[in-house]
Amino acid sequence: MGTKAQAPIGIFDSGIGGLTVAREVKKILPDEQLIYFGDTAHLPYGDKSTAAIQAYSVKIADVLLQQNCKLILIACNSASAAAYELVKAYVASKAHVVNVIDPVVDYLRENHAGQIVGLIGTKQTVGSGVYLQKINALNAGIQLKSLATPLLAPMIEEGFHLENISKEIVASYLSQEVLADIEALVLGCTHYPLIKKQIREYYDGKVDLIDASETVAKSVAAFLGYHQLLAKSQSGSDDRFLVSDYTVSFEETTKLFFGKQIRLQKYPLWE
Ligand code: DGL
Repeated sequence: MGTKAQAPIGIFDSGIGGLTVAREVKKILPDEQLIYFGDTAHLPYGDKSTAAIQAYSVKIADVLLQQNCKLILIACNSASAAAYELVKAYVASKAHVVNVIDPVVDYLRENHAGQIVGLIGTKQTVGSGVYLQKINALNAGIQLKSLATPLLAPMIEEGFHLENISKEIVASYLSQEVLADIEALVLGCTHYPLIKKQIREYYDGKVDLIDASETVAKSVAAFLGYHQLLAKSQSGSDDRFLVSDYTVSFEETTKLFFGKQIRLQKYPLWE
């Protein structure tokens, strides 16, 4: 086993959303050290231009490369839509890059062929048309109905995911005509698993909710296994959480997901 296998996995998102993916990665790969970057200074990504998201993503990839990460997981649909190809080209042979969209598209091919599938996500994710292109390329008879739900990620980031307010906002989006006949719904933003309960309640179990976090974690495990890059024993180094700006909600959610003793490290992208 090369020393590269003991190197950390880098994971990034605009804020707390990617923690839903990081938690699943940790659950199935407990020996891996994670370095998480939350770009809290620039969230929400979903409303930013493609060029801005690309600039942030490349800069973060650079930080994660400096930390010697063997794999960079873009745990954000907006950045996966806007910057995956660019980050991959930038990182080149220095690390592997994985996005959160491809594993979901594979999952749809296997489980929802011939169905009407809804997608909710940020303006960037829905506007980019990336899910539509990839799903159409499958030729699996999947009809995609997309809706941008731009209020959801900032609401969750502000800590409103446990409140009744979120229930109202969720209902007002999900009741839109475009989603009327769906049989499954892709939670196309890594923040949305935090309001899965409200979404499940809205549909009363009648619509299959596709939460990427588990699917993506499994594909990271398979990918590392295939490349013989799975850490064989705990590196002894703790997981690290870097943020471009300190926010209370980030600290609280990180503690909720990863335990009380985590320490946030402020790491501004530009001084
Ligand atoms: N969690 C992100 C996503 O998956 C970004 C949300 C945002 O910052 O707008 O799209």
